[in-house]
Amino acid sequence: MDLEQLKKEAKNSISLIKNALDLEQWRIKYLGRKSVLSLFFNSLTKLPLIEKKKQGQKANEIRQILSSLYDGAKKNIENDFSSSLDFIDITQPGKKIHYGHLHPLTLTLSDITNSFQKMGFSIIEGPEIETEYYNFDALNIPAGHPAREMFDTLWLRSNNKDKFLLRTHTSPMQVHFMETNQPPFRIIVPGKCFRYEATDASHEIQFHQIEGLMVGENISLSNFKAIIEEVVKDIFKQKVLIRFRPSYFPFVAPGVEVDIKIKSKAKNQKPALRKIEGSKIEDEWLEIMGAGMVHPDLFKRVGYETNRWQGFAFGLGVERIAMIKYHIDDIRLFFSSDIRFLEQF
Ligand code: FA5
Repeated sequence: MDLEQLKKEAKNSISLIKNALDLEQWRIKYLGRKSVLSLFFNSLTKLPLIEKKKQGQKANEIRQILSSLYDGAKKNIENDFSSSLDFIDITQPGKKIHYGHLHPLTLTLSDITNSFQKMGFSIIEGPEIETEYYNFDALNIPAGHPAREMFDTLWLRSNNKDKFLLRTHTSPMQVHFMETNQPPFRIIVPGKCFRYEATDASHEIQFHQIEGLMVGENISLSNFKAIIEEVVKDIFKQKVLIRFRPSYFPFVAPGVEVDIKIKSKAKNQKPALRKIEGSKIEDEWLEIMGAGMVHPDLFKRVGYETNRWQGFAFGLGVERIAMIKYHIDDIRLFFSSDIRFLEQF
């Protein structure tokens, strides 16, 4: 076995190696368990002692040289990152990036608040935990009043003086705001409301309302109608029919409920999103809010002159608008966290 020849050959071939795969082949060939060098070591056992020592020493030197050649080449390849990638296929499709997106209720809330802002309304927020006084008494709904039954209430543990609850509507903010501000003004109050009710396709235990309140001189229901028509047109971007029905809320007089209807020509338009099968949203009147002229009792309670100021107030159901806008049949989908539903927005 010509060890010098082996060294020369190994040196030559390693100088041509450019990638990790070839280097590994080289290692197996020259330093592996079945390499010529290893076989040479094995064969030494048969030699006389003196010869064994001499040949063994030589072979060891060669092995050390090859090992350090290998270490050097390995370092070079690791430093040169591009050499470890054989090639880059630039025609391969890239990895799809999944972007996050806004929840349909967030989209609807910002659509509605933007529309009102265009009409000069300011956005105010209020507490989700309320006292019995602001949620009920200040709104002409004292204990025992039948209207309390409209609001199935989630009561909180309270001290003796104030009874706390999760607000059943955003109307308490009417009184909070008027106590600390003077007219004229126009505000909206978006926020969560809570009711202790059985859920069904159109009722949730937690939902959103947008309260509106505009107080000034010579304000009438006609102002309210004009503003609502404009806002609804802006939100739905198509012709929407609006109808007022007489209704009763103790904190307004007169009181109305507002219904809207989307003409079925919308069917010919491509809905922004996949329509849920069997939706009956079009061609039907749907109630979207309660409203009315602010009751003089509320003005008296906050110290406004009742013969000078008039105002209208409304409470709009946000889920209701989102259901109509996106053709959603069941309110419970909003909080179901079902990714198949959420991905459509
Ligand atoms: C009220 O809450 C009154 N505060 C509205 C109001 C404000 C009247 C100002 C006059 C002046 P009502 O209970 O009808 O009214 O609720 C108003 C809207 O909230 C409903 O039209 C509906 O869209 C929505 N809503 C009420 N309860 C639920 C519920 N459980 N789940 C989802 N939406 C609801």
